[in-house]
Amino acid sequence: MIYHDIVIVGAGLAGMRAAVSTPAHLNVAVLSKVHPVRSHSVAAQGGINAAIGEHDSWEAHAFDTTKGGVFLGDQDAIIAMCREAPDDILALERMGVIFSRDEHGRIAQRPFGGAGFPRTCYAADRTGHAILHAMYEQLLKRAVTVYEEWYVTALIVEDGVCRGVIAWDILHGGLHAIAAKAVILATGGSSRVFLTSTNAVINTGDGMALAYRAGVALKDMEFVQFHPSTLKHTGILITEGARGEGGYLLNTLGERFMKRYAPEQMELATRSTVSLAIAREIAEGRGVDGCVLLDLRHLGRARILERLPQIRQLAIDFAGVDPIESPIPVRPGAHYQMGGVSTNLWTETEIPGLFAAGECACVSIHGANRLGGNSLLETVVFGRRAGQRAAEYAEAVTFRQPSQALLRDEQQRIDQLMKRTYGEHVWKIRDELGAMMNQHLGIFRSRESLQAAQAQLQRLKHRATRLVLQDKGRIFNTNLIQALELEFLLDVAETIIAGALAREESRGAHYREDFPKRDDERWLRHTLAIRTESGPLLRYAPVTITKFPPT
Ligand code: FUM
Repeated sequence: MIYHDIVIVGAGLAGMRAAVSTPAHLNVAVLSKVHPVRSHSVAAQGGINAAIGEHDSWEAHAFDTTKGGVFLGDQDAIIAMCREAPDDILALERMGVIFSRDEHGRIAQRPFGGAGFPRTCYAADRTGHAILHAMYEQLLKRAVTVYEEWYVTALIVEDGVCRGVIAWDILHGGLHAIAAKAVILATGGSSRVFLTSTNAVINTGDGMALAYRAGVALKDMEFVQFHPSTLKHTGILITEGARGEGGYLLNTLGERFMKRYAPEQMELATRSTVSLAIAREIAEGRGVDGCVLLDLRHLGRARILERLPQIRQLAIDFAGVDPIESPIPVRPGAHYQMGGVSTNLWTETEIPGLFAAGECACVSIHGANRLGGNSLLETVVFGRRAGQRAAEYAEAVTFRQPSQALLRDEQQRIDQLMKRTYGEHVWKIRDELGAMMNQHLGIFRSRESLQAAQAQLQRLKHRATRLVLQDKGRIFNTNLIQALELEFLLDVAETIIAGALAREESRGAHYREDFPKRDDERWLRHTLAIRTESGPLLRYAPVTITKFPPT
């Protein structure tokens, strides 16, 4: 059996940051279904928040984050993140991240939605790319073992303790047990549960489902963020940085409609407010072919080329529009899962030996609505914390060799899939799941639509027990990986639907047409979804409020 002291599942920013935060004498491995620099962190555009401005403070950052999340985030976690952010930015710069500069040569910062101060550090509109590549260099320097293109199918949990993972080697074919003292889940988000999303196709909620299947609660899964500006047809992200630089949102009347929804913050209101406003404009007939227009023309050619070169190229390539000359058609799209694997401040789950960080985890920082620029920050702060705490744990416990029982079970599961000659195609169910989530779990929700989603999901889950693969080979069988991902997506979907149906209020990204008001008395609490044979069992937990009373 392969052995490592610590196995990190996922090689995006949280995973790599965790790896480089462990002491060199530990035997650490990162395992990822794609090459590390193809991880979805590479797609983060607009920036990373930290109160490094002369007149800014971590307290102001913490307040904006708490308020933006409509007081559902745990304030001890928010404070830890905002307090540690400046040092982590400095650490990134020392690793070689090429942040954009202001006229004095300092790290430049741009305004982002819901922030009372321009505190988003950036590298043009390719911030994730710049950080991910610098972090990968650190991973190479530290000579961490990387299992590239391996897919984890299950966690080994014995006697209530996590003792490793079962993983499929995608390139060569074959299932392996990897024993470890500690496992860190850092698999990113799950927004591919929707048909249209800013997320890479790899974002299938794997870490969330792995933990859920192992008995860990998923927290606040009903809170899915819709980014206000995704490109027409494809759903590609058009960064909030475009509005941070001064871009306008216009309806078909040429009106800056945000003045009716958030007259002070305008286009830089929080994402849930802007997305809801855009959806209303479109629903009430003031859209432009199912979109609104993001106008950057007044920023001028030089500024667009310097600060927003990537989204300009994306708009040209994928919508045939050059933002220097014409407005970009945009609409809200699924972007980010605020919920995830329930952890404490140090990324520990309720299973000893199992940790989670980044988008797959819910510490919880973002509450009901994440501020732009806080997700990259979460990956570096809590990725680092995960690496540090998992290392302490691994040094303190004695290794116990796990049994081969789960390996045999997983082998049987895969053999059955491979052998079936008649049944449902993976892509068909995945498409239907995505379309159903788009229709019923979008910006507007109601009891009726959520009940319809629940019934439809039961049918899809039933059909997914009879999947048939078109590719029966072992080498680079993406059809097999998609089948395994589909099972995880269905798990994630059931927790989103159950949480949304139960939560009879509107808060942040969760907008119920039948309960349009926020209700702190009943619902200022976290949802915990626990897996049972008959579906998710919901429990609730208090929110940690330390510094900022809900207003
Ligand atoms: O709009 C953006 O650039 C996205 C940033 C984020 O989600 O943090």
